[in-house]
Amino acid sequence: MKLLITGGAGNVGSVLVNLALQKGYAVRVVDTLWFNKKIPLAHLGNPEYEFIKGDICDQQLMEKSLHGIDYVIHAAAVVGDPASKLFPDLTSMINQEAAINLIKLCEMNRVKGFVFLSTCSNYGVSDGLATEKSELKPLSLYAETKVSVEQYIMQQAKGVDWVIGRLSTVYGVSPRVRFDLTVNDFAMNGYRNNFLDIFLPLSYRPYVHVWDLARVLLTIIEKFKSVKNNVFNIGFPGENYQKIKIAEAVKKYIPDLKINIVKEGGDLRDYQVDFSKLHGMIKLKREYDAQKCIGEFINVFEQGIINDFDNPVYYNTSPDFSH
Ligand SMILES: NC(=O)c1ccc[n+]([C@@H]2O[C@H](COP(=O)([O-])OP(=O)(O)OC[C@H]3O[C@@H](n4cnc5c(N)ncnc54)[C@H](O)[C@@H]3O)[C@@H](O)[C@H]2O)c1
Repeated sequence: MKLLITGGAGNVGSVLVNLALQKGYAVRVVDTLWFNKKIPLAHLGNPEYEFIKGDICDQQLMEKSLHGIDYVIHAAAVVGDPASKLFPDLTSMINQEAAINLIKLCEMNRVKGFVFLSTCSNYGVSDGLATEKSELKPLSLYAETKVSVEQYIMQQAKGVDWVIGRLSTVYGVSPRVRFDLTVNDFAMNGYRNNFLDIFLPLSYRPYVHVWDLARVLLTIIEKFKSVKNNVFNIGFPGENYQKIKIAEAVKKYIPDLKINIVKEGGDLRDYQVDFSKLHGMIKLKREYDAQKCIGEFINVFEQGIINDFDNPVYYNTSPDFSH
């Protein structure tokens, strides 16, 4: 069974590739390598791994990349509200146009399934628990592009079976760590500065550990026939956290942490998400939580595995387009 994982050198993709290889899948990756360029080195000797440095906007390259592929997991994108604000044209081109072109190519190449990584950010602000049927209120270009691809898939992608995964905000140590994600950011800033600025401390968001997420995505591939043509919120019950609760988890490791509540900030998202549809169809228990993840990060920092906290490779607002 061969997977094409676009964006397979990213925060989610690099863990997904790792787990897919462990599970015996053959994996082809297409990625522009905007961030940590060393990611492919971990697997290049593995005959089941193939890395193509390239752009999903390149139609010819994507046609070739689909040869022999059973399933596509589409992770490549300009990811996050701030990055989409900085690079609006690129965001529309990659997240929307290239994604839709790739779906059309999957139809032509008779790919067995297309898994689209969308986002729970599509809910924007919601009262109560958002289910897959809740109204979408995207608050950024990033979420708007994800909503428009979702609509294309549901209304027009007739020639390929699909799953749309609305991912919770990801956390955890990954080969391509991101420090622009809340839990990771709080762990890093708490460790580094003993200080956290928090805007809207009581606002809720759903979170998922990157390894738990990879387990869910590969279970979706394993059970594709029974889950296909569905939208799922992706995460686990018990992982809708208020920001202040994440800060308190950091404080357990860093007792002299100072928490400063700020009145101004850009991120107004506030939603909790229901995961019962997903867990009614796949039986998986979560292995991580945010508290445990803070410990993972402290361990990585204390061992000096990461100490260059300002390195642009950790932030989606600083892609390296130079090659
Ligand atoms: N991380 C999260 O919290 C989160 C939450 C919801 C949804 N998602 C979705 O999951 C997916 C992966 O997110 P991530 O956190 O791993 O992001 P990421 O930025 O770490 O990874 C994206 C990868 O895609 C690559 N890429 C970007 N444009 C490309 C292009 N045109 N062609 C080829 N490669 C390209 C980048 O080099 C990068 O390696 C995205 O689709 C994102 O929208 C992520």
